[in-house]
Amino acid sequence: MFLQWLKLNNFTNYKELNFEADAFLNLIVGDNAQGKTNLLDAIYYLSHGTSYRYHQDQQLIRWNADFFTITAVTKNKYNLNKLAYSYKDNKKNITINESKLNKIADLLGIFTVVFFSPDDLYIVKGNPSLRRKYLDSELCQVSPKYYYYLQQYRKTLLQRNRLLKEIRLNKSNKKSLEIWNIQLAKYGAWLIIKRLEMLNKIKPLARLTHRKLSDGLEELEIIYSHSLDINNNHFTLEWLEDFIISQLESCFDYDLMRGFTTKGPHRDDFVVKINGYNLKEFGSQGQQRTAALSLKISEVEFMYGETGEYPVLLLDDVLSELDKKRRDQLLALVSDRIQTFITCTETSFLNKNILEKASINKVSRGILKKIK
Ligand SMILES: Nc1ncnc2c1ncn2[C@@H]1O[C@H](COP(=O)(O)OP(=O)(O)O)[C@@H](O)[C@H]1O
Ligand SMILES: [Mg+2]
Repeated sequence: MFLQWLKLNNFTNYKELNFEADAFLNLIVGDNAQGKTNLLDAIYYLSHGTSYRYHQDQQLIRWNADFFTITAVTKNKYNLNKLAYSYKDNKKNITINESKLNKIADLLGIFTVVFFSPDDLYIVKGNPSLRRKYLDSELCQVSPKYYYYLQQYRKTLLQRNRLLKEIRLNKSNKKSLEIWNIQLAKYGAWLIIKRLEMLNKIKPLARLTHRKLSDGLEELEIIYSHSLDINNNHFTLEWLEDFIISQLESCFDYDLMRGFTTKGPHRDDFVVKINGYNLKEFGSQGQQRTAALSLKISEVEFMYGETGEYPVLLLDDVLSELDKKRRDQLLALVSDRIQTFITCTETSFLNKNILEKASINKVSRGILKKIK
């Protein structure tokens, strides 16, 4: 996957940008608050049709302007694509090769990215919903069916939770839950199986990456933790569907008391360990950061395995957080195979080899200049 050209108009602090990207390593250098993260966000937008950091498109319009556009030429193994996004008067318009996109789901696979920002430390440190988000967003990028099932699961869950509240108010009865239990089990079992399959692939990749980044000193482990009372590791989809139904039934009184569904993939989590201890509780900030980075880098390899194509890698402000050894290891891992965009405030700490290979761009107040 490659980004060839990026053109921005009135996107955050970019009045106008024309950027021809290098096929491998692109360094975006600049002081704080000049537009480095905004640029990565624009590239992320190409892939997801939404911003990584802002919740509303309105926030992306440059102050005092009334629209933004993002246009790009990207390349995947099948073809060149022209992607165009615009936002004006609360309306988003997306075209791919001049034809209008009807739903965001149709963007899947056209241009894929993996974004790593310092906030992603929370994959390791934060609450379970962030780890579920990591799994889900990853799987959605490679599997349209996962995206669809996740949406169906969430809708069904809302229905079931609504019904639980009605039962509590005697406006409905327990029997009416049955149909929702069956639906939840159907979607939920499939989601769990896919997550486990993904983690089984991610585990060795993340362990290897982490070993490299930690200079062989740290062994990373990832363990899925079920909210359902599952004790065995080998089960079929059919077994899991039946098991979820039985668990939903046996949790009925508890769910009713709490007013929501307490078991299922929406309550699952995973634990990250280093050398056998739980990183969330006992890891240093540096170890947590490196582990989060290992998880993200392994995502890149996972996507390659699933789709036959590397996504574009966006690394926001990671270099300054790593010591020299980890930094060199990271750059060695990515720079020859994967188109990578890295933001940093200075380049003096990068080794000569990398500086020679990289395209270097300096950004100042929303103006980007290629300096090499
Ligand atoms: N909609 C917007 N219009 C104009 N400027 C914006 C908008 N949104 C954010 N900015 C500005 O963009 C600048 C910084 O962007 P950012 O990419 O986060 O910087 P950094 O280089 O530190 O990563 C900030 O000064 C911020 O005020
Ligand atoms: Mg930034």
